[in-house]
Amino acid sequence: MPGLLDEIEPLKQAAVAELKAAPDLAALEQTKGAWIGANGKFTALMKRLGTLSKEEKPIAGKAVNAAKVELEAALVSRREELELKAALPKEPTDFTLPGRRRVLGKLHPLTQVTEDIVRSFRKIGFVVADGPEIEDEYHCFDALNTPADHPARDTQDTFYLNVLGASRSEGGSTGGTPTARSQLLRTHTSSVQIRVMEKQPPPIRIIVPGRVYRRDNADATHNPTFQQVEGLYVDKGVTAADLKGTVEFVFRELMGEDVKIRFRPHYLSYTEPSFEIDFTSALVKKMGKDWLEIAGCGMVHPKVFENVGYDPEVWTGWAFGFGIERIAMIRYGITDIRLFYENDLRFLRQF
Ligand code: DAH
Repeated sequence: MPGLLDEIEPLKQAAVAELKAAPDLAALEQTKGAWIGANGKFTALMKRLGTLSKEEKPIAGKAVNAAKVELEAALVSRREELELKAALPKEPTDFTLPGRRRVLGKLHPLTQVTEDIVRSFRKIGFVVADGPEIEDEYHCFDALNTPADHPARDTQDTFYLNVLGASRSEGGSTGGTPTARSQLLRTHTSSVQIRVMEKQPPPIRIIVPGRVYRRDNADATHNPTFQQVEGLYVDKGVTAADLKGTVEFVFRELMGEDVKIRFRPHYLSYTEPSFEIDFTSALVKKMGKDWLEIAGCGMVHPKVFENVGYDPEVWTGWAFGFGIERIAMIRYGITDIRLFYENDLRFLRQF
């Protein structure tokens, strides 16, 4: 049948022309069906291949297949064009309109202050150490020489954890009296002093920024979770003069060159002697104060060294701890600690 071979080319051209002219995706699908659907015009042509003679069939078959490939290519390219067109905005773009401003993310003010603190301590050779927020009573209290009847251990101050399946005597806290292995949320970063000294021999020069937890009701100066920085320096012949020099250096870096500090005697179970650190500066005077209490510190208690297996006759050291929110509040003139935890962007964007 010489007719069929001659029909292929015009039929293909007509199909391609119609596909290219389809105005939208729905029309394109309809056109596709009209040509290569079950009852399509091109399909009908293919069905007729069976009626050809043995000699004609391979030649016509090849031609039909080549035509079908072209037809399908035309279909795909028109579909892509139409899809692109459908995705474009209906209105023309007005390039003279002002751009939309992208909101840039920022570091939280407490993160910024923490980074400043870390940077200052790094300058004088301290490295950052880390420890768990879920602690046991041993590392948070016992090893720091805090007696079992100390009020800081009271459930008023400490969040104890109900460890599933464990009674308190087994290290959980579902009843009975807390034991050394009772799980709790650390009330201070001092627990990390113990963790670090247990793991490595002196000399030690670390700071530990981190989150701590206390059972306080939130008010302008308290929040059940806040941030601290712990410092620990252990070596031979370490003195309180080193401590004072270090604290002075860091607070000047953080709060300005005019900062003055003073030590007041204090009591802490893990340091002896212990001090409270006050500081003053033009900023403090502007707040209408003479001195502001800013940190606690002292010489590491020999009992603490014994608890981690250091010989207190050989090693000496000092430690300090302070709250990061307090530093940030003084620095930026913030009067309510809760602002740091409310995630109000109007507040956070200011830093
Ligand atoms: N742990 C104390 C607190 O939470 C802060 C502190 C004071 C840490 C004196 C120390 C220190 O390492 O020597 O208030």
